[in-house]
Amino acid sequence: MPKILVTGGAGYIGSHTIIELIKQNYKVIIADNLSNSDIRVLDGIEKITGIKPEFHKIDFADTKATKDFFDKQKNIDTIIHFAAFKAVGESVDFPLKYYKNNIFSLINILENMKKNMVKNIVFSSSCTVYGQAERMPVTEKTPIKKADSPYGNTKQIGEDILMDFGKANPNFNVVALRYFNPIGAHETGIIGELPKGIPNNLIPFVTQTAIGIRKQLQIFGNDYNTPDGTAIRDYIHVCDLATAHVAAIDRLKNKEKFGNFEVFNVGTGTGISVLEIVKEFETVTGQKLNYKIVGRRKGDIEKVWADTKFAEKQLNWKAKRTLSDALSSAWKWEKTIYNEQMTMNK
Ligand code: NAD
Ligand code: UD1
Repeated sequence: MPKILVTGGAGYIGSHTIIELIKQNYKVIIADNLSNSDIRVLDGIEKITGIKPEFHKIDFADTKATKDFFDKQKNIDTIIHFAAFKAVGESVDFPLKYYKNNIFSLINILENMKKNMVKNIVFSSSCTVYGQAERMPVTEKTPIKKADSPYGNTKQIGEDILMDFGKANPNFNVVALRYFNPIGAHETGIIGELPKGIPNNLIPFVTQTAIGIRKQLQIFGNDYNTPDGTAIRDYIHVCDLATAHVAAIDRLKNKEKFGNFEVFNVGTGTGISVLEIVKEFETVTGQKLNYKIVGRRKGDIEKVWADTKFAEKQLNWKAKRTLSDALSSAWKWEKTIYNEQMTMNK
């Protein structure tokens, strides 16, 4: 089976995608600098799949290290490029850190792909490129707005770099996936998201509140123009997101038919409000959540959800898991890491 290099494969979405790739018999190589992940995820992958993938500690923002790494690799068929920094707020405070990491890494990888004749790449983009769109749901043709943050800008610039590189190199093939809000964890509770410090994202905050690490969830704003006043997003189970990458690789196999740069929304097509998340979490887990409504968070948009028709038709992919599946897996994972922490502290 073809060899897939997964940059950032020790991270949240990468590790779940690797499980799916192994299930489909792909040979996987992980390269990650572990700046936002833990090497123990490899044990988790082995527990779930029976296979411990080859791992290389590489910083792709380092031009020489990237070249040395690629010089030793043979027969890579496709790269799935997850490696990037992703904290929106931090990117506003430290823009250069974000431009340097996310853009240098992409350029270093592309230069070496060209030199080593690696033709296919799947790029992690984000629905953040749409900003607050005028009409819902957003399609791949919805106009891109000026990015709200340096992080968002690295995704827009990343897509542009890939498109231009594809124009100049017709044999080179790109699928960019615009993820909506990934949540949840592997159903076994063995791998999941590992937020460092106080989580910015809603679901880790919800589960940490339910388990008692945080006192109270703050709901940012109930004065939005939505049915219950709280903001709406398209929450997709990370394992569904993982299967979209397998579909993207299949698509790259038929590139002659479709052109060499394509973008797909990867969401569920359903918008869910923050209050609906809270209620569903309480129902699924039987945990009462302590929450309070506070003012809006700066930079938040009111609503976004995906039009998924293009991905359904062209990638033959659709999100299958329910919100309840996602929330119960997130809860199972929270209990796993909490218990591990408790055992370590004993
Ligand atoms: P993550 O932080 O869990 O995973 C990213 C991995 O990349 C980490 O393991 C980190 O150590 C590694 N990394 C970062 N910079 C690197 C570098 N220079 N060299 C090598 N490794 C490096 O994040 P994630 O949630 O899994 O996100 C994966 C990708 O998806 C990112 O590109 C992110 O921007 C994008 N994305 C994420 C979300 C989300 O909500 N999680 C939404 C949209 C897009
Ligand atoms: C954020 C990023 C986005 C990124 C995504 C996934 C911003 C502005 N956007 O999206 O670029 O792709 O994460 O990593 O940061 N909420 C609360 N209380 C909380 C946390 C969140 O009410 O403690 C609300 C938010 O206001 C939002 C929703 O929950 O309405 C989802 O928030 P979050 O998980 O942070 O994702 P986004 O803001 O959609």
